[in-house]
Amino acid sequence: MSTQHKITVELGERSYPIIIGNGLLDGGFDIAEFVRGPDCLIVSDSNVSPLYRDRILPNLDGKTVTTIDLADGESHKTVASMQLILDRLVATRAARDTTIIAMGGGVVGDITGFAAACYMRGVAFIQIPTTLLAQVDSSVGGKTGVNHELGKNLIGAFHQPQLVMIDTDTLLTLPDRELKAGLAEVIKYGAICDVEFFAWLEENIQALLQKDAAALAYAIQRSCEIKAEVVADDEREAGRRAILNFGHTFGHAIEHCQGYGEWLHGEAVAAGMVMAAELSAIDELELQRLRSLLNAAGLPVTAPQIDAETWMRVMATDKKVAQKQLRFVLLHSLGDAYVTASYDEQRLQAVIGAAA
Ligand code: NAD
Ligand code: GLY
Repeated sequence: MSTQHKITVELGERSYPIIIGNGLLDGGFDIAEFVRGPDCLIVSDSNVSPLYRDRILPNLDGKTVTTIDLADGESHKTVASMQLILDRLVATRAARDTTIIAMGGGVVGDITGFAAACYMRGVAFIQIPTTLLAQVDSSVGGKTGVNHELGKNLIGAFHQPQLVMIDTDTLLTLPDRELKAGLAEVIKYGAICDVEFFAWLEENIQALLQKDAAALAYAIQRSCEIKAEVVADDEREAGRRAILNFGHTFGHAIEHCQGYGEWLHGEAVAAGMVMAAELSAIDELELQRLRSLLNAAGLPVTAPQIDAETWMRVMATDKKVAQKQLRFVLLHSLGDAYVTASYDEQRLQAVIGAAA
């Protein structure tokens, strides 16, 4: 028997539900109701498709379904991968009322959402995230896109899905390293705006690592509630939404410098959050709590060798740069983040120097 929880991302006419539960891929939720036209294209990757394609297809009985599997991994989050989706849509003469379903991790979700934003100036899409990271972060909020060789996520669009369907059973097949990477984004939510949730994570980190179903369901639910609330408040990142990028300015630079896929996104964000907290000069005990929780989650808390000049050059491509000035997400304290262009330059040099 499937248990379900529903959260709505409140965006007026573009509002949509996030459904969290188990057994959803096995008929526990009527996904076809969200496929408005007669056709849909399922985009997945070479790992996820063999695991879940045959489970999703019976849910779409009565629809004309085509499928495409992309190569997996961050190094394939490119315009070339998106082109494959567009080529398939054109080749099958997909009409404006087609729906594209992204079934996979954040890479599949981001590329697919971007293709959906571009095809015929925008068609409907559904997110079925299958990694913890995608379930708590990338599938919600409408940021879509691909990497450019000069920087991460530099090409993309805002395009909201019609539905996010999170079947927590999919985490059973997720490799441990990917689970831990997802926990980095979960810990991020506690660090930026919910210190009670942070404390809950400190208590429950072992249960999460052991894939305890109830603990995972709660962590996903609370993360999605926070993300939905922040996105509803500032959909296009005019201000507050940028707090969701805590640790990401450093993290994206790590991913870029190491070569996409070497450090997983969540791993890079983990080390990046520690650097951002150091730059924030928060209370030493709180900094230690952040390091300890990330450590307990099996995540890195120090960055790899990168020289200071490279840090500064790569961080200059960050999307938060405004008027040629770097902006960082910093913490007043655990659970209280803010965005600023005014930071201690010497401390920044120490933070990136300490990392080198
Ligand atoms: P990913 O999509 O590369 O998936 C990780 C790996 O797990 C892949 O090899 C995939 O094939 C495999 N996999 C996925 N689900 C599985 C399952 N259930 N069982 C077994 N294997 C499975 O990586 P990710 O961590 O999901 O996503 C990272 C991406 O998300 C990055 O590109 C990042 O920039 C992006 N992101 C986007 C947003 C946003 O708001 N759009 C937010 C955070 C991160
Ligand atoms: N992951 C950052 C955002 O969605 O805004």
